[in-house]
Amino acid sequence: MAAMTDEETEPLLDKLDAAMKVRLLTGASTWRTYGEPAVGLRPLTLSDGPAGVRGETWDERETSLVLPSPTALAASWDERLLTDLGALLASEARRKGVDVLLAPTLNLHRSPLGGRHFECFSEDALLTGRTGAALIRGIQSGGVAATAKHFVGNDAETDRLTVDVRIDERTLHEVYLAPFEDAVSAGVWAVMSAYNKVGGVTMSASPLLDRPLKEDWGFDGLVVSDWGGVRALLETARSGQDLAMPGPDGPWAAGLLAALEQGLAPAEAVDDKVRRLLRLARRVGALGADGLGAFGSDRPAHRVNGTGSGRPAHRPPMAPDAARALLRRAVSAGAVLLRNEGGLLPLDPAALGSVAVIGPHATAVRIQGGGSAEVFPEHVVTPLAGVERALEGVASVTYRPGLPPSARPQPLGRDRARDPRDGEPGVLVRLLDAHGAELHAEHRLSGRIVEPSVPAGDAALVEIRALFRPTESGRWTWAVGGWGDISLAVDGHEALSGTFPLDSDDPTRVHVAPPLRTVGVEMTADREVEVVARRSLAPGSGVATVLAAAPPAGDADAARAEAVAAARAADVAVVVVGTTEQSESEGHDRESLDLPEGQDALVRAVVRANPRTVVVVNAGGPVALPWHERVPALLLAWFPGQEAGDGLADVLFGRAEPGGRLPTTWAAAQDDVPVLGTAPGADGRLHYAEGPHIGYRAWLRSGGAPAYWFGHGLGYTAWEYEELTAPEPVRPGEPFDVRVRVRNSGRRRGREVVQVYLARSGSAVERPVRGLIGYAAVEAEPGESVVAVVRVDGRALAHWSPARHGWETEPGAFTLLGGPSAGDLPLTAEVVALPGPDSAGKGSGNGSEHDGERSPLML
Ligand code: BGC
Repeated sequence: MAAMTDEETEPLLDKLDAAMKVRLLTGASTWRTYGEPAVGLRPLTLSDGPAGVRGETWDERETSLVLPSPTALAASWDERLLTDLGALLASEARRKGVDVLLAPTLNLHRSPLGGRHFECFSEDALLTGRTGAALIRGIQSGGVAATAKHFVGNDAETDRLTVDVRIDERTLHEVYLAPFEDAVSAGVWAVMSAYNKVGGVTMSASPLLDRPLKEDWGFDGLVVSDWGGVRALLETARSGQDLAMPGPDGPWAAGLLAALEQGLAPAEAVDDKVRRLLRLARRVGALGADGLGAFGSDRPAHRVNGTGSGRPAHRPPMAPDAARALLRRAVSAGAVLLRNEGGLLPLDPAALGSVAVIGPHATAVRIQGGGSAEVFPEHVVTPLAGVERALEGVASVTYRPGLPPSARPQPLGRDRARDPRDGEPGVLVRLLDAHGAELHAEHRLSGRIVEPSVPAGDAALVEIRALFRPTESGRWTWAVGGWGDISLAVDGHEALSGTFPLDSDDPTRVHVAPPLRTVGVEMTADREVEVVARRSLAPGSGVATVLAAAPPAGDADAARAEAVAAARAADVAVVVVGTTEQSESEGHDRESLDLPEGQDALVRAVVRANPRTVVVVNAGGPVALPWHERVPALLLAWFPGQEAGDGLADVLFGRAEPGGRLPTTWAAAQDDVPVLGTAPGADGRLHYAEGPHIGYRAWLRSGGAPAYWFGHGLGYTAWEYEELTAPEPVRPGEPFDVRVRVRNSGRRRGREVVQVYLARSGSAVERPVRGLIGYAAVEAEPGESVVAVVRVDGRALAHWSPARHGWETEPGAFTLLGGPSAGDLPLTAEVVALPGPDSAGKGSGNGSEHDGERSPLML
């Protein structure tokens, strides 16, 4: 059966009465929409993204393949890899019955303190747009909808539900909207409106959803709210907001039908929302004859396959080995070699006798950032395991943490706790009624429980119970996380009890990462105790409950001395440093770029002990690097995903080149950063006063010197930039090619990311000193010259005119600059823009690649 067209879905609207239509527009549950048998529509399942596909459960029982963080993906500057990873995400989505993946995140790195920095791609709109578009194409090629989020201005987390972001019109179009326009050009099927306001209007009610999104760009997909983002009735009913998530409650569920009947909400607006939902359903295969059998919430959506839809039929999930190989390749492709004095890297295993691996992150590697993007891996290859595997039978590997264990309690896990019922590794979770009688019990593998596997129903309490054997004597820090009445008992003695009322509306703080309530408890090594945490389950008290512990404070000097001795005794030291779950997470911005306590001192001490030291940074976004000029080799691994260790070892031992180039400028110290603040003023407004000058543009304007420029990253060979050839004069709005000849002047084959920037002196309008307008990657053998053909979008020479509310190109000469980073551009040439009307220029507008038809709405 051929794909159902818009013409065929249109009559379905007539089969729905007002109540049916309104019902479809609010979620049926946290992750699902309603189905509607009258039109053969089954429920759609939505899921986070972007580090993997979580599915409908939020815990360790349903594992996911974990990709490197979006910062790492953007660092690859490799759209083919991005498309392949998108296809992997689609495969995961189908495996889990997910129709709509809530990714990619297209907000920008305005400040390095942004809490979701790791989840966004870049400080540059062009790199963000191209990276996002490539991922979207990959996801949707698998019949799964991608969602460009959060539209728009959600570039930081402080007061994210209410902050009123003020962006001038030109900057809004040229910088913050641009990646979303690229997503629409790539044919994205869904866009998520942000929580925040822009220009005084909350984004779920914003006129920007109509213009430019739907009317000017021709977006014909669905605008889904951020979770809980529809907070008013009439403004959002009339706006371009189409679907309110989650459900079943919410302003639309409560009042939209009455508003419609009273003529307060326009019927055409509601029809358009439903039309868009049906179109999305058609695209993912949730509409049509064979969708009819799919009703009922227990039927996985993925069993309904593609006939009558945009979803390719019977496509099997990606084979596990192929998936792991792709994830491993992504680690080296995104790893950025910031510094490599004397060519310390790559290390030759045959020439090594011993390696000292140092740092808690070498064993407890951070593979992803925190918040809604979090997924649960089946396995993690740690950096230590990767190095050991690579050197097996060749060289000896010693490991020293170099720091005492973290004082921050960690959720109990399989390694430290046993279920008191059967002694199995893990914990016992019970739901209890008000009298303490058991309603439900289950074995779990982690002391962090976002939801028990059955609905709480009549339960009054949730309990986490475990047998715990302390590894050492002393004062342990115990913690219970969550809201409401909380208690903790150790061997029957109450250690903690209190009432903790909700202090936030933010879903992440309420449901996912609630605060920990801590208490010190004296414990004796090897004496097993029973620990029982309880939390009341009142409505509005969030879903997560956490039982966590940290050992007694250790001796920092002794830990560092052990690491130093190991480094001194080894041929090479590899120190892995990084951030914590608390510092990089959704829901709050970072307070500081500093590495958590003790790590800077550890790096300095190890480098002093062994000049052949490689420092690996395990962070999703920038950290301060006060010692960066003292370390010979500095490798940025980001949050590398589940195959971290093997991918890292590939780079360290030269099996792969470090392919990454910085998607964001890194400062040596926080005080140097030109655009830093993320907090609104007392009036609730956050002014983007710097206009378009963020990232490298801000550094260029301020004249400051970052530690490493946007675009920077070393491979294992060297390159000469030989010649840049500009095109003939160009007509406004027309794309053109810039040719850059480079020569591999090093000793091994390599890949170079050739970047082209644009500048204009003596311009009538204010402009950045220069801005990226295109890039292309080339590969060459030693001694070989190759020409990178850099395609430049027709929009590149234009600027947004607030007077005309449109794009225009200033005629005359522009300077093209070519090189390996925003701070190193050895080649220049001129390109002349001819006078003439602008032909607008960006992409091709939205379209459905699967069926090729264009909807009447798009015109
Ligand atoms: C986040 C979104 C996410 C949603 C569902 C929100 O708090 O901002 O990015 O998709 O939750 O988890």
